[in-house]
Amino acid sequence: MSRKKIVAGNWKMNMTPSEAVALIETLKPLVANDEVDVVFCVPAIDIIPAQEAAKGTNIQIGAENLYFEEKGAYTGEISPAMLVDAGVKYVIIGHSERREYFAETNETVNKKVKKAFEHGLTPIICCGESLTQREQGITIDWIRQQIKIAFLDVTAEQAKTAVVAYEPIWAIGTGKTATSDQAEEVCAAIRACIGEIYDEATAAAIRIQYGGSVNGGNAAELFAKPDIDGGLVGGASLKPDFGAIVNYNK
Ligand code: 13P
Repeated sequence: MSRKKIVAGNWKMNMTPSEAVALIETLKPLVANDEVDVVFCVPAIDIIPAQEAAKGTNIQIGAENLYFEEKGAYTGEISPAMLVDAGVKYVIIGHSERREYFAETNETVNKKVKKAFEHGLTPIICCGESLTQREQGITIDWIRQQIKIAFLDVTAEQAKTAVVAYEPIWAIGTGKTATSDQAEEVCAAIRACIGEIYDEATAAAIRIQYGGSVNGGNAAELFAKPDIDGGLVGGASLKPDFGAIVNYNK
């Protein structure tokens, strides 16, 4: 089974709408690579101008979050239908920053994942351990728990199209990348866990990214691993270096 690589930028809380347009203008010639799915996950307010700026390119615009209700009295939230209507296909769910600062749990992640699928959105489901958990030797147990709950009541057909991002918290924004062996070990365990929940075909189809201080210098080695199907990129997605990550195979 050959899986198409997917490289997604997570802009986090960066770039005003006009800055977003300028950044896309700068990056668009640098990220042309048809062998890779290229996604820019941008702040909600940037989605529409970003779509406009990315028209006619290979850049797909994604979101960084959604809410798990359809509509109504949820001040400040963004519904799945809003994302779909704005032309979004991918949505990051359960990033460690949302778990840490906005009280997201495995259960709310599961609700959001199911809601995303209901609306035809592809979730990029984040998981990852803290440094303490790694040092205590419970990384794989912790990740398996995150994955098992995220995929509760998700069908195999849906799971096949999902993206999982393995992001060790200690590697996010720290410049301390996991070694390619460390990243592969966990990504392989995630694939095995998907195989246990569903079957071999689902495990073989799902795409698993690594995230955490990915840059143009380390992307090729990470993405060469058998269970790593691309990256979720924070800091470097705001710079021309993102082009080097997308073109890791050139
Ligand atoms: P950095 O690439 O800045 O470490 O961030 C990773 C990340 O959190 C992407 O979601």
